[in-house]
Amino acid sequence: MTPTAQQVDVFPQPEALTLAAAERLALLANNAVEDHGVFTVALSGGSTPKALYKLMATDDAIRGEIPWPKVHFFFGDERHVPPDHDDSNFRMASDAMFRRLSANELHVHRVLSELASATEAAEQYESDLREFFEPRALVIEGFPRFDLILLGMGPDGHTASLFPNSLALLETTRWVVANWVEKFKTDRVTMTFPVLNSAAEIIFFVAGAEKAAVLAQVLDGTPGETRYPIQGIRPRNGIKRWMLDASAAAGIGTIRAESDRP
Ligand code: 6PG
Repeated sequence: MTPTAQQVDVFPQPEALTLAAAERLALLANNAVEDHGVFTVALSGGSTPKALYKLMATDDAIRGEIPWPKVHFFFGDERHVPPDHDDSNFRMASDAMFRRLSANELHVHRVLSELASATEAAEQYESDLREFFEPRALVIEGFPRFDLILLGMGPDGHTASLFPNSLALLETTRWVVANWVEKFKTDRVTMTFPVLNSAAEIIFFVAGAEKAAVLAQVLDGTPGETRYPIQGIRPRNGIKRWMLDASAAAGIGTIRAESDRP
């Protein structure tokens, strides 16, 4: 198995982490637009990226850098709730970013999470992705190649909505599936490993001391180990970039962090 190019960046505070992630996103967006005319990014849900999305829309320098009319926003996963629900990842990104931007320069491809079943929402989202990626020839080995996929990590080592011991971990052909999450007794809609591992760049955007224990095991663990779902993220032909704040990175071996730096 080709070792995945991996980079670990640790920032002293969440603010420095957020700014660096916004700058990286803006750089990747301009490179992608120059190369193939559009920038495709799948957003992460949860609470950590809220500050990043807000900064993208409110910081003049960053906002001015992003080629908004060429950016297509997607979601790596979504909760099976209506788009105006407090738990909606779309709602979170709208409140933090989309509503601060003019609608005619925005391309947002959200999960139709209001549909009756999560399975229906997942199938609809896969067909929406196919409709976007296939005509643009942005499909590689049968899976869409996102320019960037933003992912977080839960304290249990889940990412997107790929939770420990859940069925979606085993999916090898579908792009998007409904995934029952026993601990929350609810369905989620999530992109699958084959899609996530087809990205040109994955940014793990992780902050907070509650993530430190698992992060240390993941980053100091044996390459190829799949104890945690997040270890299943190995871009086939892309970069895996960890962007961490100091409290999340508190447990990782310092040597390891430095050795990953160029
Ligand atoms: C979701 C996310 C999920 C998230 C982690 C971390 O929909 O919840 O996509 O994978 O990234 O649960 O969440 P926090 O950022 O809230 O810690």
